[in-house]
Amino acid sequence: MEDLHFYRRLSIAPMLDYTDRHERYFLRMLSRNILLYSEMITAPALLHGEPERFLRHHPAEHPVALQLGGSHPQNLALCAKMGEDAGYSEINLNCGCPSDRVQSGSFGACLMKEAALVGECISAMQAAVKIPVTIKTRIGIDHDDSWEFFLDFIETTGRAGCDTYIIHARKAWLKGLSPKENREVPPLNYEFVFRLKALKPHLNISINGGVRTLAQTKELLQKLDGVMIGREAYENPWMLREADAEIYGKENPGWKTRKQLLEAFFPYVEEQLKDGCPLNIITRHLFGLFNGLPGARTYRRILSEKASKAGADLRVLKEAMNAVEEQVL
Ligand SMILES: Cc1cc2nc3c(=O)[nH]c(=O)nc-3n(C[C@H](O)[C@H](O)[C@H](O)COP(=O)(O)O)c2cc1C
Repeated sequence: MEDLHFYRRLSIAPMLDYTDRHERYFLRMLSRNILLYSEMITAPALLHGEPERFLRHHPAEHPVALQLGGSHPQNLALCAKMGEDAGYSEINLNCGCPSDRVQSGSFGACLMKEAALVGECISAMQAAVKIPVTIKTRIGIDHDDSWEFFLDFIETTGRAGCDTYIIHARKAWLKGLSPKENREVPPLNYEFVFRLKALKPHLNISINGGVRTLAQTKELLQKLDGVMIGREAYENPWMLREADAEIYGKENPGWKTRKQLLEAFFPYVEEQLKDGCPLNIITRHLFGLFNGLPGARTYRRILSEKASKAGADLRVLKEAMNAVEEQVL
């Protein structure tokens, strides 16, 4: 297996309610190399909930990183160990999510104001596991949006042992903006990220925010170690089909059509249905697959009307797929 930094050249962002194990399995079919991230799992949920359910993933997903939310060093260390034992390749600490729910638990973006505490969390987790422990963060929060503030956060956590950062290149407002607005309203500032890499070339730096194409990814990789894509990969997964060749210099999986890809996903869907998973839990991730093709709207309508009905099975997905007209490339 290659070094994790190789796979990190292109990663898929952690997205709550989106990047669950079904979505990750599906994206893995589009690229054997992209680094996948779990949804954020909070330390209290993992320690007091059902860890097997939260940590469950398919061996085919690898390499896959577990993102944790929390700010209690010892609890995070316990969770990191649980993640390592479950087979994850990396533990990532969320220092970038601005939702109210997250702030009340004192984790996510508000941790940018507590760099020393984040450093303690990193050290505790690193002492507990052998796999890499990384940070995903913003470039600032509220009025703390200067270069000096950002650099101090990186240097403080760096001294604690973190050497790999994924940076969502916009600041977050902790009050007044919804999480969705916080992904759109504060302007992107890639310059801060370029400047950081130029100043600290020994750090592994991935950039995140607003990347929509493999061409853009390749351009950013001229200056940085990695690019993380969130919404575009979710809404338009087909954009990843040539990632293995374009980004990694490897062979693409070679899907000729989206239908061919979807058909290859059917056995997984059947396996999950047999295991008691409702169809719509899987198909909700497939809405964007045929975007732009004739029949895509009917495809989505069939899925939204029928996939959540009791007993819905693969026939619904096939019926939806058959509504799409697709040319062979
Ligand atoms: C629905 C949704 C859920 C998200 N959940 C998380 C999360 O659990 N942890 C996290 O660090 N970021 C989360 N994010 C932020 C993304 O990881 C990413 O930083 C952001 O979407 C910007 O990247 P993009 O422009 O490529 O989408 C979420 C984003 C979306 C759209």
